[in-house]
Amino acid sequence: MVLLAAGTFTSCCNNDKTSKSAEEIVLENIANRKSVRNYIEGKQIESGKIEKLLRAGMAAPTGMNTQPWEFIVINERPELDSLATELPYAKMLQQATLAIVVCADTSKSAYWYVDCAAATENILLAAEAMGLGAVWTASYPYAGRMSAVKKATQHPDNIQSLCVISIGYPSVKESPKDKWKPEKVHKGKW
Ligand SMILES: Cc1cc2nc3c(=O)[nH]c(=O)nc-3n(C[C@H](O)[C@H](O)[C@H](O)COP(=O)(O)O)c2cc1C
Repeated sequence: MVLLAAGTFTSCCNNDKTSKSAEEIVLENIANRKSVRNYIEGKQIESGKIEKLLRAGMAAPTGMNTQPWEFIVINERPELDSLATELPYAKMLQQATLAIVVCADTSKSAYWYVDCAAATENILLAAEAMGLGAVWTASYPYAGRMSAVKKATQHPDNIQSLCVISIGYPSVKESPKDKWKPEKVHKGKW
């Protein structure tokens, strides 16, 4: 893609003359994101893509810009399988080739889990944009899951985990859910 003036993008390759505005690209990315829990087994995610996911995460806003987050990148089978065993709603990690644990130094911010949530959504959007499938699996606020993540990753005591993002190349094409409900919008006053 090449960024043009006035926020339009056009393909640089394959003679594709169609161009989309930055607005269309961003809004389509948001609308197309969905939780993906089925992956092509064994298909590894390139290190360049992993860095892009992490850069997207760290681009998120944080309260008072404290950036309390830490990211644990897991792409070894024994660790992925161990998390799949320990976490009750993360069995898809048995097929995943990558997990990113989004966690934080809780002494740095009372907002740590909100900041980590913003980072997590950015990672999910980046995964969608790169043709990867990903799903947020909960750690916080469940004490049992948080200690299972601590045991598997051996993170220090001052760190708490918000979630484990399970990532892989999708094995089936899935559609996003339509969640638009105009009745959820209250204009001026409730
Ligand atoms: C806070 C939070 C916790 C979640 N925990 C899990 C989980 O443990 N396991 C899982 O399979 N999906 C989990 N999800 C994914 C949701 O089930 C999913 O986002 C929801 O069903 C909406 O579907 P969509 O992501 O495709 O739009 C979680 C999502 C959020 C935001």
